Formats: sequence, structure tokens, C-alpha cells
Amino acid sequence: MATAVKVTVVYYSATGHVTDIAREIADTAEKASAEVRLRRVAELAPQEVIASQPAWAANVAATAGIPLATVEDVVWADAVLMGSPTRFGNIAAQLKQFLDTLGGAWKRGELADKIYSGFTSTGSPHGGNESTLLALMHSFHHFGGIVVAPGFTHPDKFVDGNPYGTAHHDAGGTVPVGDVTRNAARVQTERVVRLAKALTAATL
Ligand SMILES: Cc1cc2nc3c(=O)[nH]c(=O)nc-3n(C[C@H](O)[C@H](O)[C@H](O)COP(=O)(O)O)c2cc1C
Repeated sequence: MATAVKVTVVYYSATGHVTDIAREIADTAEKASAEVRLRRVAELAPQEVIASQPAWAANVAATAGIPLATVEDVVWADAVLMGSPTRFGNIAAQLKQFLDTLGGAWKRGELADKIYSGFTSTGSPHGGNESTLLALMHSFHHFGGIVVAPGFTHPDKFVDGNPYGTAHHDAGGTVPVGDVTRNAARVQTERVVRLAKALTAATL
């Protein structure tokens, strides 16, 4: 019997939009028969700042049961999907902090030859979703990763229109993750799992 491909979903989210995408990705990967680890990265913001923003506090409470990401979660995986809200056109510091813990694994060559793919959420439709996804890819290239972007490989991609990865825009926190974003996440994940299966079959 073929071994299930191993997928790790690593994300940061303050107010929950990226959490929703991460959960959709994890569910889709499981439905595609992958073994999945859903992991959030550690929060860096002070507790009083979080508590002063209801959406942020609600997301922290709702995701308390999701384990914190470790270096081993990335080393373990055949495919890694990473997500972050857009912060000034870039990834959030919390995810960057986690990326910076990967130096030892990188040096040992343990991050190479895996599939990597990214997802994000922005406040506005042109607020930097593409630059955030491309910023994630900077690190993926350093890892020696195989970057799998969704491209326009499925009819749904002509609806959300982002070939670099799944990107929601929340219109200033007023638009929850809906069908367009969920469909994009499913297309991206199914492609990642399919190619991870091919890659692991080729290298076993
Ligand atoms: C400090 C900060 C910087 C942000 N920078 C951008 C930005 O450059 N472009 C944008 O469209 N939205 C920006 N946003 C909005 C978030 O990217 C957006 O609300 C996102 O959906 C939040 O995801 P989350 O709910 O998973 O935390 C910023 C938000 C914060 C708090």
C-alpha cells in the first residue's frame, strides 16, 4: 500500500481570515488522503494588545487547540503550505520569526526537495497579496524547495484570478472567507498533494 504523503500547513493569523484558509487547506489535503499537520506559529504581540481587539482575541481563543509549529513539522513534511496575512506588502513578523528558526534544518539540507506553496489575506484587493506570496517564495527558493503555485490550472482560478497562491481580501475586516477563496484553496491544495504524490513516488 502506498504511504500517504505528508503535508504540513503552517500559518499565522491575527483576526482569523488566514486561519480559515489554513483550515480549508488542511481539510482538503486530508480528503486527498494526505497525512496532515495543521500548525500555527507563536504569537509575538503583547496580550493587552490582543485583548483590546475583539476579532484578534476571538481568533486566539478559537485556535488555542491548534499545536504550535516546530522545525520538525517542516522537516517531516513532503509538502508545506505556509500562510500569513499581508503586512505592508510582506509577511507578518510572527511567520518570519518562525522561518528564522529553520536555519539549522536549512544548513543540514533538511528543507530541500519538498514542495512549498503559499497563501495570504489582505485588507484590500490590491494591497500586496502578490508581493506577500512572492516574499514567501524567496524563502522557499533558499530552502531548495519546489515551488508549486496554482497558476491558471483550473477553471476556478479564472474566478479568483491569482496564479501565485490563494489570496483572500477582507475589505477592512468586513468580508469573511467565502466560496471564491475556499475554491482557490482547494485547487491549490489538490495540486500540491497530487504533485507531492508524484514526487514521493519518484524518489522512494
Ligand atoms: C500592521 C498591519 C499591516 C497591514 N498591511 C496591509 C497591507 O499592506 N495591505 C493590505 O491590503 N492589508 C494590510 N493589512 C490588513 C490585513 O492584511 C488583512 O486584514 C488580513 O486579512 C488579516 O488576516 P488575518 O485575519 O488572518 O489576520 C494590514 C494589517 C495590519 C494589522
